[in-house]
This record gives sequence, C-alpha cells and structure tokens, in this order.
Amino acid sequence: MGVGLHLPSRVVTNQDLEKTLDTSDEWIRDRTGIRERRWLEPGLTTSDMCLAAAQEALEDSGVRAAEIGAVIVATSATYDQPLPSMALMVRDALGATNAIPLDLSQSACAGGVYGMFLGSHLLQNDLMRNVLVIGADCFSRVTDPQDRTTRIFFGDAAGAVVMGRSAPARGLMSWDMNAALSHSVSISAGGATTPTTPKTAEEGMQYLRMDGRTVWREATKWIPESIRLALKPLGALPHEVDHYIVHQANLRILQHVMDDLQVPHSRAEITVDRYGNTGAASIFTALHQATRGERIAAGDLLVISGIGAGFTWGTLCLIAE
Ligand code: UT7
Repeated sequence: MGVGLHLPSRVVTNQDLEKTLDTSDEWIRDRTGIRERRWLEPGLTTSDMCLAAAQEALEDSGVRAAEIGAVIVATSATYDQPLPSMALMVRDALGATNAIPLDLSQSACAGGVYGMFLGSHLLQNDLMRNVLVIGADCFSRVTDPQDRTTRIFFGDAAGAVVMGRSAPARGLMSWDMNAALSHSVSISAGGATTPTTPKTAEEGMQYLRMDGRTVWREATKWIPESIRLALKPLGALPHEVDHYIVHQANLRILQHVMDDLQVPHSRAEITVDRYGNTGAASIFTALHQATRGERIAAGDLLVISGIGAGFTWGTLCLIAE
C-alpha cells in the first residue's frame, strides 16, 4: 500500500575506501558492481533511519500510524542496542499505539522478505488491518574498518512498506521460504556463547566476518531455485515475471541469477551500484525505485527474493493491485 526509503546523506565512494584499505575502485566495481554506498552519520542510529522510512511509507499509503496493527522491524544485527526492542522504539516514535512490536533480528539480508512474509500472514487474521514492515541495517557500525573483504560491500539504509488487505487474486499469491545453517557469515561475540569483553573487542570479534566464496556459491544456488519453487503453484515461468526485486548483495550475483533464470537483466531493479548491500533494507531499495519510477502496473507479476546470513532465504510472488 505504501513504500518508504531512508538513505543517509554521507556518500562513501570506492575512491574514499582506497585511502584506508588495500583495495581499488577497479577491483570493487569489477567484482561487485558497487560504485558508492551510504554510511550513517555519527550521532544517528538505526532507529532514526527506520523512523524516516516508516513515515514516508505511511504517507505513501494514506494509513495513519494509529491504524497499524503490527510494526515488524527486521535487521541483521544492527538494532540500536540488545534491549529494549527496536520495533517498540519505532512504534513509540511513530505514535503507532495500537501496534504489536515484532523484532526479526537474525534473518539478516533476507529480513525484508521474512518481514513481508510474516506481515502478510498476520493479515490473515481479520482483526489485523494494516502492518508496517521495516528492514534496516547499519553495517558501517559492525564491519571492521581494516577488513577489505567486508568493508567495501555494505551500506546503511532503511526501507519500509505498509501492507494491507488486497482484492481477490491480487497481493501475495505464492511463496517459498527455506534455510540451511552455516557459520560462513557471522558475528561471533556479543551473544551468550561469547559475551563481549575487552579481549573480544581487542580481537575484533564484534565485527562481521564473511567467507565471500561460500556466499557466492550459496546465493547463486538458492535464489534461482527459490524463485522457481515459488512460481510453481502459480503455473508461471521465470520469463513471465514482470519485475524482479532481488536482494542487492552484489551485481554479479544478480546477473548470474537472471542468466540462470534466462530472463533479461533489465527486468531486475538495480540499486547495489549506488547503495551497496544494505542488508534487510535491500529489497526495499529496489521496490522503492520500481514504484517511484512508476514501473509497476496493476496486474503485473512481481517476484521479491532475498538471501542472508544463516543462510536464510525466501521468495514472494505478488500480483500488483
Ligand atoms: O554483499 C555481501 C554478501 N556477500 C557477497 O555478495 C559476496 C559474494 N562473493 C563474491 O562476490 C566473490 O566471491 C568475491 C567478490 C568476494 C571474491 O571474488 P573472486 O572472483 O572469488 O575473487 P578472486 O578469487 O579473484 O580474488 C580474491 C582475492 C583474495 O586475495 P588472494 O587470496 O587471491 O591473494 C582476496 O584477499 O581478492 C582479495 N580481495 C580483495 N582485493 C582487493 C578481497 N577483497 C578485496 C578487496 N580489494 N576489497
């Protein structure tokens, strides 16, 4: 019913990163397609981005904050603090006083898809009229400034959608959700296994670590498979999908997915070149671009698909109203 997006104003280019990391603009563009990303200014935090994105989504939908039945906030690991609930902080700041706050904090870059899946299922209950789903990440705060294998990929952003009831044969038509445990993308300190101590901080265990090649292998396997499985109950084939809103991890992964599905690259929205991988916000950056560009018409078939650390992944097939 409405889409919102917040991007920090600070732009960090590949040339900026060359100054502090052993990397190059050419390597980053060639391997990832990323030219620049946004990093949140000091003094601001993830919930500030959530609030701005949510306000735009509410305005776009015409739904008032008090009419929201649930506020779902998905983030990889960049909530403001472990407790209290960030969904509750956002609910409070919005004045969404009738909403249940729900936090989805470990479905990582699949968080936007998981949040929409949860939101659409809450709407199966007659008492739930509108759900606000927010995906937000502030990776600049959890990537190691010295680690070129992670630092270059990520950007900060928040995206939001207001979901409501659709007409028959419109809205969410089918889906595929699945997961497979792997520690290849992880933050090892800060939980019950390894609480944060001066020693863990000294060793940089609060930072995200990523085995890039495993991510590549898993993402290029599971995203196309999930899209095919999700389309099956609709009897639709990949080339019949009008818009692909796919997690913006990396331009090469996106292109690989489209080639695997034998669909022209032009059907996929691209934002990763300007914003990097924005985690749980990423599908909303693409959805926002498609809706603001007025590219989606009533009756169009949309595929929204994402994969994140865990690994968790999922695909939603929707028909636009
Ligand atoms: O957005 C977050 C989700 N994660 C991803 O999307 C990652 C998915 N994985 C990939 O896209 C690819 O596997 C990478 C881009 C991570 C690596 O691509 P590749 O074609 O497998 O790279 P490569 O094997 O040709 O080069 C890897 C080399 C390594 O050096 P050695 O061990 O060969 O000496 C890395 O240390 O590239 C080095 N490297 C870098 N060099 C310059 C890693 N990061 C960088 C960097 N700048 N930022």
